[in-house]
Amino acid sequence: MTETNPSPFTKKRIAVIPGDGIGKEVTPAAVNVMKSAAAAGGREVEVTEFDWGADRYLRDGTSLPGGAVEMFHRDFDAILLGAMGDPRVPTNVHAADILLGLRFKLDLYVNARPCVLFDKRFTPLKDRTEKDINFMVFRENTEGLYVGMGGNFKKGTADEIAVQEDLNTRKGVERIIRYAFEYAKARKLKRVCMSDKSNALTFGHDLWQRVFKEVRLEFPEVESSHQYIDNLLMQMVRDPSQFDVIVTCNLFGDIASDLGAQLAGGLGLAPSGNIHPGQVSLFEPVHGSAPAIAGKNTANPMGSVLTVAMMFEYLGWKQEAKAIDAAVRGALREGKTPAELGGTMGTREIGEWLANSVARAGVQ
Ligand code: NAD
Ligand code: IPM
Ligand code: MN
Repeated sequence: MTETNPSPFTKKRIAVIPGDGIGKEVTPAAVNVMKSAAAAGGREVEVTEFDWGADRYLRDGTSLPGGAVEMFHRDFDAILLGAMGDPRVPTNVHAADILLGLRFKLDLYVNARPCVLFDKRFTPLKDRTEKDINFMVFRENTEGLYVGMGGNFKKGTADEIAVQEDLNTRKGVERIIRYAFEYAKARKLKRVCMSDKSNALTFGHDLWQRVFKEVRLEFPEVESSHQYIDNLLMQMVRDPSQFDVIVTCNLFGDIASDLGAQLAGGLGLAPSGNIHPGQVSLFEPVHGSAPAIAGKNTANPMGSVLTVAMMFEYLGWKQEAKAIDAAVRGALREGKTPAELGGTMGTREIGEWLANSVARAGVQ
């Protein structure tokens, strides 16, 4: 990720929004590891927690309070979020206000979702190893089908009509495609694959096609290719080693990143960053609030912990990020895992183990 702060030695102010369901379990575990890694590196973090989520929404109607966006710009370096979603709020309106609201209002146009297999035991793909599954999904994060434009007509009648608009702007498409190429170039990655559905979506995704063809000319050192989204998802399963960087629209990126997460060991291990380069950005695991397992201390906190590593890297604390990554790899090697990865440990216990492991190993 791009470094945002020219002075990585200053204190970082982190807003923490645990949210709903397992978000309230994995986030404290990740904060534990965050504090341990910062201390091990001689860094200072100031953590401020916000109780936004379904409980608060049901209690007093608050979702994203007025002034929140200005506050984040002014008072924080980054935001760590758990998950949003609660069966008691079937419209999901609080999640839309808070999570989508922050993505849109902070203009976090890059949704970076790495799919990295840490240990071949964890992929469901036969005969695939760590070298085969190591790619980044860049999901456009501020437009597409997510903008909430549309409406109903004659709702609830036999004649009802529902319209949901797919909004694509040249500026929005261009900046995410350019970010994907710049990321590949900076890391000497060979290939960028853009995925759309321009054979059917002949207006919106034709724009993606045209912009992709323009932007790739600026990056002759990077191999560029295109796959329709249906083929892309099939190819991710057939041969994931063909991908270094995938860039796609908001909805397709949402879907491709859950598939990518599973190829790399499951949602419990998948981190993500919602980024506006150089500005306050929001980091969260890819998974949701998993209501069925919430409150049982069984959720895997590693996705959230690796999210902290992504956040530290973004903030310029690269050694601390590496220390967290190494601790998670160690836990996977030693079987300090939850049941879904074959172990017996609980959410809290894994958080403690990882925090201790980082403290023991220190920051190199
Ligand atoms: P989900 O990611 O919550 O769960 C999908 C499956 O993965 C479930 O079987 C769950 O038990 C499992 N799972 C997820 N995270 C896990 C973890 N850390 N450890 C172990 N198992 C884990 O997706 P869903 O069931 O489609 O959605 C549930 C709620 O979460 C919905 O309200 C949805 O809108 C919301 N959601 C929120 C976010 C977010 O806040 N970023 C992301 C996805 C879904
Ligand atoms: C995600 C989630 C969200 C999304 C939902 C909760 C709106 O699935 O962060 O991947 O679709 O972006
Ligand atoms: Mn999703």
